[in-house]
Amino acid sequence: MDEVAIEVSSPGGGSPDALALVLAEDDTTPGSDGDLQQQLQQLAEDGELRGELGRTVVLHTNGASTARRVVVAGVGKRAEVDADAVRTAAAAVARRLRDVGGTLAWTLDDSLPLPLDEQARAVVEGTLLGAYSPGRWKTEQKGGKQIERIVLYGAGDGVDETAGRAATVSKWVNWARDLANSPPNELTPEDLAQRAAQLAGPNLEVSALDPQQIDELGMGALSAVGRASANGPRMIVLRYEPANARSDVVLGLVGKAITFDAGGISLKPALKMYDMKGDMAGGAAVIAGTAAAAELQLPVRILTVVAAAENLVSGDSFRPGDILRAANGKTIEITNTDAEGRLVLADALWYARREGATNVLDFATLTGAMEVALGDLYAGLFANDDAWRNDILAAAQASGDHTWPFPLHRRYRRYVDSTYADMKNSSELRQAGAVLAAEFLKEFSGEGPWGHIDMAGPGFLERSRGDYYTQRGGTGYGVRLIVELARRLSA
Ligand code: BES
Ligand code: MN
Ligand code: ZN
Repeated sequence: MDEVAIEVSSPGGGSPDALALVLAEDDTTPGSDGDLQQQLQQLAEDGELRGELGRTVVLHTNGASTARRVVVAGVGKRAEVDADAVRTAAAAVARRLRDVGGTLAWTLDDSLPLPLDEQARAVVEGTLLGAYSPGRWKTEQKGGKQIERIVLYGAGDGVDETAGRAATVSKWVNWARDLANSPPNELTPEDLAQRAAQLAGPNLEVSALDPQQIDELGMGALSAVGRASANGPRMIVLRYEPANARSDVVLGLVGKAITFDAGGISLKPALKMYDMKGDMAGGAAVIAGTAAAAELQLPVRILTVVAAAENLVSGDSFRPGDILRAANGKTIEITNTDAEGRLVLADALWYARREGATNVLDFATLTGAMEVALGDLYAGLFANDDAWRNDILAAAQASGDHTWPFPLHRRYRRYVDSTYADMKNSSELRQAGAVLAAEFLKEFSGEGPWGHIDMAGPGFLERSRGDYYTQRGGTGYGVRLIVELARRLSA
């Protein structure tokens, strides 16, 4: 994986292939570039140069600047400029420069209402996430020259470090997107375990339980979900143990990795079933987030558990009416085989606690109901502990992985009561689908702080979001949040 080079320099340094200048909607011309000022002014008067968010105008400088091209990037209304706006502007620039590549210089603007280091971080993320292409499986790759270097003009405190970290994190976000976009014939549970195994290093240990070991540990829920597929389930485990860990916290990251969700006997409709290759996005996020934390050498211990399975239909499928026994001993009546995510997570949560996780957070594309509630931008957060919920929300807010709190309440529990078993895996009422899934998971979350992020909406896009996610498919949602959370836990 190539990593973009990051440099901080004073304006005018070097001869970049392109120089980006930001322009707010309420400004007439961008913070100028000497000899080009007149031309910019003319374009502004003509109405061609405007600062709408996501708009770009390219000028070829013919020697009037050290840069061969100047790209004016609209950031919207000055007072409304936030990290998302800068990411969106940077993504637009990156896409505009697809046929140019090379070195992009970006002028940080200290008159924007966003600190310089936050601007730098957003520029790097927007550029790298915006330049991502999901077309890896095309036999002919058109255009697409890589941006190899980002030079940030306008140093400030911490700009260097923040921008470098953003480059590393963005690389892992795109790695997670590649996994989510991988077709299910190329990414079975075993393939995912192998991809994880390749990440092993001096302080990152990776292993996987095979179907037999899963059965031996009594993981009847994961085992049943994975049973119909010729590609059997895996429980993938990563242990990041830095020598300099600062506290006795063990961050437990748990991910849902259904490599393809056909729904099982409770079969999904054919329309858009193909998008269910992305039902492993939570698992990809926790693996990538762990790898990023390890690369950044964050001083916090992490235990990552990914429940990987393929939910198919066969003569050996689990059925509606079956009663399963999860690893924690609880019995589950299956009322819908398409509510499989909570089943595999039940065993993964138990395993994470058994292996010593103190603060648990799971990521899952769990319910269509969550996507109905929040769309493609926010994920929903459920937690059993106020302090832990606040930690997660604060990290989410700082990271750009948008997350909003949703309730748990014991009065909801009766909707997953079963006549025959300890609980059932889905309700026939069409109410609070995302909450009931979370109430179900709570039964397996063990002792201690636990949070659950339902990322069904932002995890895998059906279309461009119109911001810095300009493509359909995997977003790598969760990777940035995880790194931010791990950083805060180690501070
Ligand atoms: N993977 C799906 C949820 C999903 C739907 C994710 C759309 C992303 C986009 C999950 O396994 C599922 O099928 N959930 C069911 C649960 C129901 C049967 C209780 C759902 O949401 O319909
Ligand atoms: Mn399902
Ligand atoms: Zn699913």
